[in-house]
Amino acid sequence: MFKKKEKYIVAVVGATGAVGTEMIKTLEQRKFPVEKLRLFASERSEGKVLKFGDAEIRVEGLQDKSFEGIDIALFSAGAERSKTWAPVAAKSGCVVIDNSSQWRMDPAIPLVVPEVNPHDLKWHKGIIANPNCSTIQMVVVLKPIHDAAKIKRVVVTTFQAVSGTGQKAMNELLEQTKDLLSFKAITCNVYPYQIAFNVLPHIDKFLENGYTKEEMKMVNETKKIMGDNSIRLTATTVRVPVFRGHSESLNIETEKKITANEVRAILSAAPGVIVYDAPDKNVYPIPISVAGKDETYVGRIREDESIDNGINLWIVADNLRKGAALNAVQIAEKLIEMA
Ligand SMILES: NC(=O)c1ccc[n+]([C@@H]2O[C@H](COP(=O)([O-])OP(=O)(O)OC[C@H]3O[C@@H](n4cnc5c(N)ncnc54)[C@H](OP(=O)(O)O)[C@@H]3O)[C@@H](O)[C@H]2O)c1
Repeated sequence: MFKKKEKYIVAVVGATGAVGTEMIKTLEQRKFPVEKLRLFASERSEGKVLKFGDAEIRVEGLQDKSFEGIDIALFSAGAERSKTWAPVAAKSGCVVIDNSSQWRMDPAIPLVVPEVNPHDLKWHKGIIANPNCSTIQMVVVLKPIHDAAKIKRVVVTTFQAVSGTGQKAMNELLEQTKDLLSFKAITCNVYPYQIAFNVLPHIDKFLENGYTKEEMKMVNETKKIMGDNSIRLTATTVRVPVFRGHSESLNIETEKKITANEVRAILSAAPGVIVYDAPDKNVYPIPISVAGKDETYVGRIREDESIDNGINLWIVADNLRKGAALNAVQIAEKLIEMA
């Protein structure tokens, strides 16, 4: 279905957003073989000009025939737009790599992290789903541990940056911070409460079971990507006043005993992972150091002394890169490699 070529006509849908902007940058930085780049956003942005290398590209609105001739479309314009337009794009013969939550749990659509389950790309039928940002950085670390010691259960707490909500949330954190430091009243439009100098245990909508949608995404997407429904996982997802970079505290219980040193060795050899762990020198990953980086950083690796086979660790990755744009571009690169 996907034909190998020297260069591809690529589209970014949601090109003006936080993820779309990063997608354009990632295509350029990784020298993706782009013959032509088409950029789409809402009517509000039609006619706006964005840069791709030396080229200046006009943003277009979406129409029925927009995808004709396009080989690969990277979607990041929200679930509603993906629901409407991804099938239109796929029908035009283009491969859609979709960042929204729309198709992730559809059994007919692969959900892929190239370091974990590249084989699932073989059965795509035109749409490939990119997982949730907090899930991606977690599974690149869980997979090698699962292969070595079989994971029974994971308890994860996230500390997620505002860029995970999009450009408007980044503006809100900046404006609230400026207003508070100027002793002015703040406004809350994106989040229900002040996010500057605060922490909100609430990401996405609350569900009937008391969890948020974000928490259940982590539970369900992990099983699908890892291809193992036996892994038990429970999550608490928290929004923190950080612009870029999600952090996660993980407690992992394994079937086989694995030491902290063994985990360090396994993760040091794992693709896309950097072990950054020397507590005696205050070395551990933090969002401001990891922002803009491609890899998932792991530190604070230690044995859980309260159970027989347990590991605690701390993971940080750039949610706009590995959590979104980079993973999507890596999927496209893998498709080309496998074609
Ligand atoms: N941020 C993250 O870390 C992250 C991670 C993984 C997945 N995602 C997913 O990626 C998607 C985009 O997230 P974001 O953070 O980039 O949001 P964002 O900053 O709010 O950007 C949204 C983009 O969608 C476009 N858009 C909105 N309505 C549209 C329409 N009717 N037709 C065409 N384009 C339209 C916007 O265009 P205008 O500028 O013209 O309004 C903008 O380019 C969401 O589905 C999100 O769940 C985000």
